[in-house]
Amino acid sequence: MAFPPQFLDELRHRIGVADVVSRRVKLTKRGREHLGLCPFHKEKTPSFTVNDEKGFYHCFGCGAHGSAIDFVMNMENVSFPEAVERLAHEAGMEVPADTPEQRERSQQQQTLLDVTEKAAAYFERNLRLPEGRAALDYLRERGLDDATIKKFRIGFALDSRGALKGALAREGIDENLLIAAGLIIQPDDQTRAPYDRFRRRIVFPILDARGRVIAFGGRILGDGEPKYLNSPDTPLFHKSRVLYGLSHAAPAARKSETLIVTEGYMDVIALSQAGITAAVAPLGTALTEDQLQILWRIAREPVLCFDGDNAGARAAARAAERALPLLKPGLGLRFAALPAGEDPDSLIKVEGPDAFKRHITAAEPLSDMLWWMVTKGKQAKTPEEKSLFQKQLEDYGRQIGDSMVRGHFLRAFKDRIWARPGTPGFEPGYGPSSQWSGARSADAIQDVLSHREAILLVVLLTHPGLYDQIGERLGKTGFSAPELDKLRQEALKTLAHQPSLDSAGLEHQLRESGFTGILGSLLGPKVYDHAFFARPETDDETARQGWEETYNLYHQRDLQAEIREAKAGLAGEMTAEAMERFRALKAQQHQTRDL
Ligand code: UTP
Ligand code: MN
Repeated sequence: MAFPPQFLDELRHRIGVADVVSRRVKLTKRGREHLGLCPFHKEKTPSFTVNDEKGFYHCFGCGAHGSAIDFVMNMENVSFPEAVERLAHEAGMEVPADTPEQRERSQQQQTLLDVTEKAAAYFERNLRLPEGRAALDYLRERGLDDATIKKFRIGFALDSRGALKGALAREGIDENLLIAAGLIIQPDDQTRAPYDRFRRRIVFPILDARGRVIAFGGRILGDGEPKYLNSPDTPLFHKSRVLYGLSHAAPAARKSETLIVTEGYMDVIALSQAGITAAVAPLGTALTEDQLQILWRIAREPVLCFDGDNAGARAAARAAERALPLLKPGLGLRFAALPAGEDPDSLIKVEGPDAFKRHITAAEPLSDMLWWMVTKGKQAKTPEEKSLFQKQLEDYGRQIGDSMVRGHFLRAFKDRIWARPGTPGFEPGYGPSSQWSGARSADAIQDVLSHREAILLVVLLTHPGLYDQIGERLGKTGFSAPELDKLRQEALKTLAHQPSLDSAGLEHQLRESGFTGILGSLLGPKVYDHAFFARPETDDETARQGWEETYNLYHQRDLQAEIREAKAGLAGEMTAEAMERFRALKAQQHQTRDL
């Protein structure tokens, strides 16, 4: 729906972005700005600012940025027109009457929603009829319980060319509406009667973000071709803009901060039944740009979890490529590789939800995915190989639209290509640039943080049995020292695949993977002298307690991220506010130094 530009200007003028934001976020006034805890990422010290004069919010921590309309879209997960309508309503403004065509279109959509809802209810009822018995048995055989069947409103299309048509006609629904909703097919030969699209199939209603039925997917009962049949695109349904399971997953994902993207209907459903409710799936196609944007409105780093086969790997690679032009600071993707031949549905059945969660925890960031796509796991030895890898990696890097993100990726690739195996990662990697007078104290804080990172990791290395208790949090904690972070990821990945490894086995494998140098400096007095509980001989419980304390202290690292952002902000815009902010952060640093 297109709104007249004057209307949008007026709306933006009338609504205060701080008013809109403060309904969700506690704000305190600070000069001309309001300050609060960012609702788009987890933080303990506020870096989320709202500026009414400029009409936008901005987070120095995660880069979230936008107008009041964007805020409503992102927080409520609604489309642009919906956000505009809500805000206009609140501001007491009339949404301008659309063109007659637009009015007609929205009326038609309303009518079609009524049709798809009735059809969904009809399919659900079929599942409980004697004719639906085989379908119900099939679902039960696949492990679905009644609560899940009900939650996803799974139904059954009878083995008939006219059952749905007849049933909905009896409810007074016009045949043309059924055609428009994609439920019945009008043969090209107009003299022949339209017939039901879904026949003898398990039916999965596809819901929009608000939970309204907009389309259907039908799975054949048993084997046969095609395995799945989807509704065609209709005025309600554009396959490339829809994610299956979104209306259930979005609230759960906001709470857990993890959003899982799988390949299929059954994966989403099986995960939900296993208690992993923040999962969605595209509808049999590669992830589209629209779908990526929807994912990012909900989670900063959705985890793509594709089947452990070649098709899954290709789908992951395509998603990685498609994400590049769209990346923004703070947004990313992570990639979980499942064992060959497994999808989430089967994996959960075979190994249980915890095993699945381990794969999610061990998911690799986009930068590693690109690295893998180029190197295929091979280590470049000759200058020829290295320059080829660097060229290909830079080709990917240059596709990143955002200049800051692009800079970081290119730099990381270059560092990694040039890194000598075994370079200790103990020193801060991206040291603050020397042009800043505050650099020295920032260095000091970085040292403290790197040291805590080392302790957090060493406890896992010396006590891999604690994986179940600390692995998930360690998985979410990106370290600031790059080499150490690589080791963190590798260790988690190794344990995810081989949960029963002991510390010697783990260390052996990590040495094999080229971490000998850094392990040498980590597993020694440098860490043990400061953190006795990390020593191999300490019992698990003591080690765990020490780890928890360090983890809590480490969470002062929010401070460090903010310092970096504040400096970046200063570099871009030397304002009094930015300066003040930087000073305030620096004052806090001094308190942290002695920790
Ligand atoms: P899969 O073949 O992996 O199916 O296709 P699945 O979801 O694991 O289903 P089960 O476990 O065999 O019952 C993944 C997704 O690709 C789309 C569907 O959206 C499916 O969920 N697909 C697949 C189609 O659209 N058409 C097909 O013929 C097959
Ligand atoms: Mn499957």
